[in-house]
Amino acid sequence: MVIDLVLSNAKIYTSSGIVTAGVAIENGRILRIAKEANLPQASHTLDLHGHLVLPGLVDMHVHLRDQQLAYKEDFVTGTSAAAAGGVTLIADMPNNIPPTTSATSLRERARLAENHIFVNTAFYSAFPEDLAQLPSIVKEKAIGFKVFLSNEIGGFDTEDNNLLTRAFTQAANLNIPVAIHAEDKKTLENAEQEVKKTCRTDVKAHLETHPAIAEMKAIQRIVQLFENTGGSLHLCHLSSAIGLTSFLAAKKQGLRITCEVTPHHLLLSNKHSKRLPRLTLVHPPIRTLEDTKALWNAVTNRQVDSIASDHAPHTIEEKTTESIWDVKPGIPGLETTLPLLLNEVNKGHLTVPDLVRMTSEVPARILKLKDRGSFKAGCYADLVVIDMKQKHEIDASRFHSKAKYSPFNGWKVKGKPIRTLVNGRLVMDEGEIVAKAGTGSIVS
Ligand code: DOR
Ligand code: ZN
Ligand code: ZN
Repeated sequence: MVIDLVLSNAKIYTSSGIVTAGVAIENGRILRIAKEANLPQASHTLDLHGHLVLPGLVDMHVHLRDQQLAYKEDFVTGTSAAAAGGVTLIADMPNNIPPTTSATSLRERARLAENHIFVNTAFYSAFPEDLAQLPSIVKEKAIGFKVFLSNEIGGFDTEDNNLLTRAFTQAANLNIPVAIHAEDKKTLENAEQEVKKTCRTDVKAHLETHPAIAEMKAIQRIVQLFENTGGSLHLCHLSSAIGLTSFLAAKKQGLRITCEVTPHHLLLSNKHSKRLPRLTLVHPPIRTLEDTKALWNAVTNRQVDSIASDHAPHTIEEKTTESIWDVKPGIPGLETTLPLLLNEVNKGHLTVPDLVRMTSEVPARILKLKDRGSFKAGCYADLVVIDMKQKHEIDASRFHSKAKYSPFNGWKVKGKPIRTLVNGRLVMDEGEIVAKAGTGSIVS
């Protein structure tokens, strides 16, 4: 038997420690992980020179844009950025133009993406105004429903408790997770009114319009509405100590609830936003050092389920408007997430198994993705090869994303993704995209 590919000289983490082995790949999947002498012959061999190989990242929070927002990012540039960053699967958020909020819009988005994606791509939908359409959206392969509590998508009224409860119950019955951007709308509106009265334009003024209490209130409200539905609830981008406390309380109560944190909320605090008020501007905002410490503490204690980029690209013009109030919120993160986290591993703040759990295994489990997110025989060969020793400087001008800026630009880090394989095919090699668009699959 001659198989498709063998990765030789790979350093692999197994439950019994690190071993040097080979990986046999056939039909896009991992056939076997074993000493090379025990692997079948392959038509191609890729020598990994003793580098570490891990499951590719499953980034469950990405704004891929395209369609009428293609000027910010499109399927080609966004998924190239993913491959460059060692991300092999992304879940796309629905706040697009047109918004993903029906079976028709989802089908059209998937159709447009199909031949343009370099990594596997899944799609969230927003809740439709007419809840009777939910089953058809799920049938069209939505991976989950996303609710922006502070920013409605389409006509779905997120202030209506009754409607939300019905939506959550239906999602639970359809066995599909609900992801929440948890900021309480009324709290934000009131805070904004107060702050804008003062005509302030400093970064602290912006922060005051998105107080941590808005996160806490939103989580508490949603948890109450979700309580008796039996569904799975996922909290996106936890940013504050009090938000985290509310999440942990709900978990203790027995709710099927998971959370995600982002590298920017872990690594940036008000000292960075003072220096780069516009490039760090994001919702929920970058907060205090105490908040980052609470988030790190939760990471270390294994209370955090996933780390996602919340890649939210905008044009540099949109990020550098004169008034702070006109700056579009969001940070491009696909090409910085893994290098930043590898740097934390090298600093001893994170272990490799914890990294893999939060960036691949658990996100794949939350999204119910079959045979993805794990480095095991039978799973898809979605892999990232890592040079743990390579020191480099983050250079946003070389991003594959259309958003060629980053609050992390110039950071010196150690540890770099050097190759990415998607469905058994080499897509990124030393920073270059070497595969055809369409190598990624639409997944659900
Ligand atoms: O900062 C943000 N950017 N927060 C959001 O909720 C939306 C996102 C975007 O789409 O740009
Ligand atoms: Zn959000
Ligand atoms: Zn987002």
